[in-house]
Amino acid sequence: MVDRRRARRSCLAVPGSSAKMIDKARGLAVDSFFLDLEDAVAPLAKDEARSRVVAALNEGGWDGKVRTVRVNDLTSRWTYRDVVEVVEGAGENLDAIVLPKVTGPDHVRWLDLTLSQVERATGLEVGRIGIEAQIEDARGLVEVDAIAAASPRVESLVFGPADFMASVGIRSMVVGEQPSGYDVGDAYHYPLMRILMAARAHDVQAVDGPYLAIKDVDGLRRAGGRSAALGFDGKWVLHPGQVDAVNELFSPRQADYDHAENVLDAYEWCTSDAGGRRGAAMLGEEMIDEASRKMALVIANKGRAAGMVRQDPWTPPEEG
Ligand code: GLV
Ligand code: MG
Repeated sequence: MVDRRRARRSCLAVPGSSAKMIDKARGLAVDSFFLDLEDAVAPLAKDEARSRVVAALNEGGWDGKVRTVRVNDLTSRWTYRDVVEVVEGAGENLDAIVLPKVTGPDHVRWLDLTLSQVERATGLEVGRIGIEAQIEDARGLVEVDAIAAASPRVESLVFGPADFMASVGIRSMVVGEQPSGYDVGDAYHYPLMRILMAARAHDVQAVDGPYLAIKDVDGLRRAGGRSAALGFDGKWVLHPGQVDAVNELFSPRQADYDHAENVLDAYEWCTSDAGGRRGAAMLGEEMIDEASRKMALVIANKGRAAGMVRQDPWTPPEEG
């Protein structure tokens, strides 16, 4: 089974053709990375990039990061070879495949069946390698529910703003920024929210795509802050200078994490025999109930996945 709870606050894009960038990626504090065989690799460099990616996964040094590879999309001539060569060569050291430009559930099913075949043929555990489906055009967005439900391997839905802007005709080339002339809201609100609903309905993660102006960390904070506030689990990063900002944006604040853990403990105690089996209780000035528990669990899970350490834990009231 795939693990849909792994932290994916920051997901680093690494061109599969660049030995230098692959080496550099090992030392960065990202939760996840993908070695790219798609848009960051020129057509004539694809074959060589495959071998490089297999070697990089097998060499290791990835230090607990979620290890993924982005294959080419299913309208290309490279996809099946990407999957077969990478999984045959490094399946043991691979956590998920990122499938770009997914336009319907058939793409995900193809990948699921192909992965199962390669896993069987090579003696790997069937079903362990996950799928991250990129939603990058109008068709993919319209089909996003069916895409999320297409396989138990789906671990995340990933917004691809650059391809999406091209697909729907958003009048800007500054990826992640608002198009000039649109001044009544956030031009990305609808696709982000649509993807988030599908992700939550099918219990998979929702990941925001890249912010291309890599020097503009304030702009990145603004754009990433929006998807983080909506409830997204993480965002792509393209450059070392983006990592800290994105990890911070997608982690709970320390005070919120501590509070969430306290709500969970206090609620568990008050609903137990020791706490009088009450369905609601006070935590300081705040009334907490089952709905509070659910909200707290979301924040606590994000904090735990991010390795946060709790400060100042709650203790039950003294008897008498
Ligand atoms: C990423 O793949 C994008 O198109 O933004
Ligand atoms: Mg793309």
